[in-house]
Amino acid sequence: MNSEKTKKPLSRRSKVLLISLAFIIVLCIIELVWSNSFIEVECFDYKNENIPKSFDGVKIVSVTDYHNHGGSYEDRLIEKIKEQDPDYIFLVGDIIDSQFTKLDVQKSFLEKCADIAPCCLCFGNHELRLDDSQLDEYNKNAENAGVTILDNELIPLTRGDDTIFLAGTTSAGGAQDISTQAETVQKSAPLLWLHHYPENFEDLSNDAENMGFPSALFFSGHAHGGLVRIPFTRIGAVAPGQGILPEYTGGEYFSGESEMLLSRGCGNSGMTLRFFDPFEIVVCTLKTN
Ligand SMILES: [Fe+2]
Repeated sequence: MNSEKTKKPLSRRSKVLLISLAFIIVLCIIELVWSNSFIEVECFDYKNENIPKSFDGVKIVSVTDYHNHGGSYEDRLIEKIKEQDPDYIFLVGDIIDSQFTKLDVQKSFLEKCADIAPCCLCFGNHELRLDDSQLDEYNKNAENAGVTILDNELIPLTRGDDTIFLAGTTSAGGAQDISTQAETVQKSAPLLWLHHYPENFEDLSNDAENMGFPSALFFSGHAHGGLVRIPFTRIGAVAPGQGILPEYTGGEYFSGESEMLLSRGCGNSGMTLRFFDPFEIVVCTLKTN
């Protein structure tokens, strides 16, 4: 009796299926590496007749959700920011990661950013999770680097004879503080506003209008692009604060007279990974019509 089992050769159909599957797996791995290491630069022009002449052509780089990435990635990111030759760098929250808090990385990153251009920073949810001593060190590092922290504050930015105002809020409730501080300032130019959470965009744009500003330009992050995106669309799977199929994932959004430039961010929170959703920095050039 012959007990040897004879192996059946794979059918042509099975071979095609296996090769296709292997090809898809390889493509997915390449895409995962790409989305979790490459840094895209998204450029926008903000055209508004109320931009004062001295601010015409001013270039702003918005960096969000760095999450203490560190290492050689930090050098690549800094080089990318430097290549844009910005007049200001806006750091729009979650520069640190509360799960892997490395304040030495935050210190080094802020110092390198401040060497490129004046930096202003608002807090994200990860900064808010720091304990008191960590937050003290965070703030001290920012102060020593010359980075201005806007914790529900409104400050003037002056160039030549012209001034525009920049707000930075820690939560949506911070709009009340901005409103109080805005009572005595001139509101002829658009208000620039750093706010980590894009889901507050419509409410805050109403607040800016109620304050008497002709318009507002928001810079936000937090959504991480929706983490898993359908290529060539703005459809993402999930975002903190917005849940499944979030409305705001990345790019340009409008509400009334206001606009929001939402960055997909340039780091990952904790152990999360992106798919078809590479890191990015946003570059905005202010233009008088
Ligand atoms: Fe966040």
